[in-house]
Amino acid sequence: MHIAIIMDGNGRWATQRGLPRTAGHVEGAKAVRATVETAARAGVDTLTLYAFSAANWRRPQVEIAALMKLFGQYLFSETRRCVEQSIRVNVIGRRDRLSDNLLRSIEQSERLSASCTGMHLRVAVDYSSQYSILKAAQRADRVNPQDGDIAPADFERLLHEVDHSAADAGPVDLLIRTGNERRLSDFMLWECAYAELIFSPRMWPDFGVDDLHAAVREFRGRDRRFGAVAPPLTRRQEAWLD
Ligand code: FPP
Repeated sequence: MHIAIIMDGNGRWATQRGLPRTAGHVEGAKAVRATVETAARAGVDTLTLYAFSAANWRRPQVEIAALMKLFGQYLFSETRRCVEQSIRVNVIGRRDRLSDNLLRSIEQSERLSASCTGMHLRVAVDYSSQYSILKAAQRADRVNPQDGDIAPADFERLLHEVDHSAADAGPVDLLIRTGNERRLSDFMLWECAYAELIFSPRMWPDFGVDDLHAAVREFRGRDRRFGAVAPPLTRRQEAWLD
């Protein structure tokens, strides 16, 4: 099962408490740890977290700097924990606009966790789905200029390449967005073609284990009719939901 989360509401969480927005991001990072570890224990195959969109570069410089620092710190401090739990880390999105320091942390984290066979954790940084689709389409045209036809699986391979994504990340089954907003915000538009959407009123820092659990329960209750039946639950997932 592939779960993707648009983690929204850090800023409002902080403002409601009279704190600077960056305090909301710090608290949000703690919610990331709890969610990652819960999902891994529950047997989720892939978890993709939307940490920074290409549009987020329009935020005040001080907030961008705080977020970039948090990502670096997260990779530095969490990679060891991830490896201990056999979680493979992969940062997806553009890399040409990230600092050298952050790039080094990303490469190190991916290298150290490359052989982990448990959950696949993908963190989207400087990510825009429209950009990725456009770039993949341009590559498809270069690879195959005569014949306009390209198989979906080949296009997905190009998308993964553009995104710096591991090639084995499949389509999203469940997309959760917190923060009481009901938009996709340019997040995995191709990969979410058949995703079930769940919108939570919780601000991201308040999104806890019970909320994740409730979302997965709701997902299991949905009738997914894309030509087949939902895959059976693994024993670990059954136990989690009981
Ligand atoms: C959206 O809330 C959140 C972000 C743009 C940043 C997400 C970052 C984190 C959860 C913290 C660190 C992440 C990792 C992977 C370590 P917002 O700021 O748009 O909130 P608002 O809508 O209330 O303003």
